[in-house]
Parts: sequence; structure tokens; C-alpha cells
Amino acid sequence: MSSRKKLIAGNWKMNKTSADAVALCTEIVAAVGRQADVEVVVCPPFTAIESAAKVLDGSNVKLGAQNMHPEASGAYTGEISAGMLRALFATHVILGHSERRAYFGETDAFVNKKVLAALKNQLKPILCVGETLAEREAGTTLKVVQTQLEGGLEGVSKDQAPTVVVAYEPVWAIGTGKVATTEQAQEVHAFIRGLLVKLFGDAIAQKVRILYGGSMKPANAPELLAQKDIDGGLIGGAALEARSFVDLVNAAAAAK
Ligand code: 13P
Repeated sequence: MSSRKKLIAGNWKMNKTSADAVALCTEIVAAVGRQADVEVVVCPPFTAIESAAKVLDGSNVKLGAQNMHPEASGAYTGEISAGMLRALFATHVILGHSERRAYFGETDAFVNKKVLAALKNQLKPILCVGETLAEREAGTTLKVVQTQLEGGLEGVSKDQAPTVVVAYEPVWAIGTGKVATTEQAQEVHAFIRGLLVKLFGDAIAQKVRILYGGSMKPANAPELLAQKDIDGGLIGGAALEARSFVDLVNAAAAAK
């Protein structure tokens, strides 16, 4: 049994209005608001963060954002800073999601700036890494993941490292219904753990949660969550309905 508390985070992506967020968070809080064995995080779009925060207040369900800008303030039209998120009681922020890398040209260097800015502001980064189908077929999965992980974590200190969460999300499994096999996922998770050992030493690496993301559903979660180095999930589609999200939290509680 792992000493790491499992973490289930919902990435709502570009879904849900502020009113929708109130409804969904109300259901989530009613079902798992007192859950203490699993860390539960919801990541609504920016426009719903404040309304979600009000519903989550006083519960164990935490609040995250899906992105942020590394600078504290200034002329960055359309962007949001770590301080703004902290002011709304966000505790986590997803960084370097493959959709941001693919559609908005985010590089490892830019993601790294965000990771450092998040940590400086006491926000816990959920750093996403993962290969495309072409990269997997070319046999470069581990190399791609290593470059993204080392690039994203450059300059992170040993003190800061335990608050970092890594999410392994094979791009070919996101929103496709094609979940990685438990062997495929565990192989990459173990590889990431090994890289963390090299970067920060064994004791710290054992504290870092590594989430799996990509078509994770209540039906496939128990087997994934039973793997030694899979410490939770970053959930897209199944996080948009209270029932499936709550079932995933319960699956994580059962797996611990
Ligand atoms: P799906 O669960 O919809 O495949 O999305 C995964 C994801 O990208 C979470 O960040």
C-alpha cells in the first residue's frame, strides 16, 4: 500500500457556465464533500471559479484552474495570474496540458515558468506530460515524457517538489475512449517515478503523486488505480457529470 493519498482531479476544459458549476459542485459536495481519504479537486473554467469556490467553501473538495500566466500582472491581454487564482481560493493549477501545447503552442520552457510561478504563489501545479500516437508508434514515448518532465520541473527545489503533481496523459487516449492498458500506464508512471528519484532523491520522489489521464472512467479506474505508481486520475469527460466523477472518487478510496 502506498503512503501517497490518492488524488482525483476533474478538468472541465471549456465546459460549464458559472450556474452549471454551482449545480455540479453542489452535487459533488453532497456526495464526497467530507471525503478525507482521497484528495478531490475540481478545475472549472476561469469564469466559474468564483461561483464554484462559494459552493466548495467548508468542504474537503479543492479548487483548481486549468491554466495561468507566469507573470504576476501586466499587459497580457486575456491572461490570469497565480495571485488572481489565489484570491479566489484556488489551491491547484493544471499546467502544460497537451491541448495547450498543441493548440496554443506552449513549450516546455513556458510551462516551466508557469510551474515556478505557481510554486512561488503556493499553488500546486498539476504538470501534464504525454506522448502523441505518432510518438508512441515511433517508440519515443519515454524520451518525450522525459523531455517534458525535466523541462517542466527545471529549477524546482527539493522543498517544493513534494507539492508538485504530475499527470501522465497519453494524447491518443484523451477524449478518444482509448484508455492506455494498465501495463502501458504503469510502465510510464514507473519511468516518471525513476526520473523524480534522479531529480530529487528517493524520499521526495515517493511523495509526488503521479496521476493518469485519458478516457478514465468508473469502469476502468479500479484496475488503473491499483497500479503501484498510479496515484489518481486527471479526469476530462467523466468529470462533467456528478455521478461518474463521484464514482471515480469512490474507486480511488477503495483502491488506497
Ligand atoms: P478525457 O477524460 O475526456 O479523456 O480527458 C482527459 C484529460 O485531458 C484530462 O486533463
